[in-house]
Amino acid sequence: MTGATGLVGGNLIHHFLEDKNVSRLYLLARGKNDEDAKQRVHKTMNVFSPQIDKLDPHNKIRILAGDITRNNLALSNETYDELTNNLTHIVHSAANVKFQQSLENAMLVNFQGTKNVFELARSVNATNGISKIAYISTAYTCGEHEGVFYEDDSFRPSMFANSYERSKYESDAYVQSLFNELPVTIFRPSIIVGDSESGITNVFNGLYGPLEMIFMRLIRFLPGRKNTKMDIVPVDYVSKAIVNIMNLGKFSDGKIFHLTSGTDKLVEAGEVIKYATDFYSLMMSNAGSQKLQTGFLDSEKYLKYKNSLSGAKATISKTLESFAPYTTLNRTFDNTKTLDALRGSGLSPSHFGEYCKKIFNYTIEANWGRKIKFTALAGG
Ligand SMILES: NC(=O)c1ccc[n+]([C@@H]2O[C@H](COP(=O)([O-])OP(=O)(O)OC[C@H]3O[C@@H](n4cnc5c(N)ncnc54)[C@H](OP(=O)(O)O)[C@@H]3O)[C@@H](O)[C@H]2O)c1
Repeated sequence: MTGATGLVGGNLIHHFLEDKNVSRLYLLARGKNDEDAKQRVHKTMNVFSPQIDKLDPHNKIRILAGDITRNNLALSNETYDELTNNLTHIVHSAANVKFQQSLENAMLVNFQGTKNVFELARSVNATNGISKIAYISTAYTCGEHEGVFYEDDSFRPSMFANSYERSKYESDAYVQSLFNELPVTIFRPSIIVGDSESGITNVFNGLYGPLEMIFMRLIRFLPGRKNTKMDIVPVDYVSKAIVNIMNLGKFSDGKIFHLTSGTDKLVEAGEVIKYATDFYSLMMSNAGSQKLQTGFLDSEKYLKYKNSLSGAKATISKTLESFAPYTTLNRTFDNTKTLDALRGSGLSPSHFGEYCKKIFNYTIEANWGRKIKFTALAGG
């Protein structure tokens, strides 16, 4: 698996460790060397489970320092051969998810990186045959296309909100072009937040950015519209759905699954902000703080508001602009095929309102990621 230090990859490790069918788990992570990569993965694992010393009793995990943008994933020939001879499944979760990055960089990591991982998949397939390659895409490959986006849709959007979406679209299209050659399954999550039961997350990007600014009283308005429908899913649903659907074997080959809340569990941007301001205001009321007030401004008014700010607030308001497409465009993602595939598993997406307090609570507990403690796992 690639992306083991990320939100999705980090959460998936625990599910693969519990899976009896998994006898060995190779994790590719960036690092100066294998030891450094190991430390970084252990930090991530520790966030999701403080009982890290009990997590890998059978020494299933092998952590390799690598980089998906480099030839042979920056692995030695010996290690590359070991993978070629031993892998049965590949999960490609690594990506650069920043909205504000150059197209060149986004394409290097998200497109070229994906091609490099699929080169390995081809070698594995040519050697012993490969059982499954799971590629983690995004529902936002639909670009700025508004309305319902179906799992079977394959159109090239005329506009993308940012270089991330564009690069992920190109990668998704490339992976689809291999459907006849390799047993690939594409998973497209929407906006992912922490675990729905514990609130735990190891990264505080995406939705957490605007939430922190609101909490810190650094911003009074967000760009967007309060009635924009947002699609938010917790990481435990995403991970469990990936494992479940991968275990369906050939049934899921050559298919695309939307790991989204679906059209009936959407939440309005205004609701998200109300849940958050209510929660954080209540928490701070003991300290005598006034209720948090945050509203939305459409692009023209937001521009005026932004220009009236100075210093840190001006910088923040500029950063928040990159989130505007997600609170402005009504992009909804049908998940009928996913729900069909998950029938009988007990898994289904929940409405953000059902678990958001856990998410907000963890932001405070972890002080927005600054308070996360780490211990290393022995061996591995
Ligand atoms: N988070 C979301 O809301 C969301 C929504 C939809 C889809 N997705 C997709 O889900 C997948 C996982 O995202 P995530 O949320 O887990 O992202 P994340 O938390 O930012 O993690 C990204 C992972 O990719 C790794 N990575 C980046 N560049 C790399 C490189 N050159 N070589 C090797 N590894 C590299 C990162 O390693 P470092 O620790 O070294 O940076 C990290 O482990 C991505 O494909 C993303 O597009 C995410």
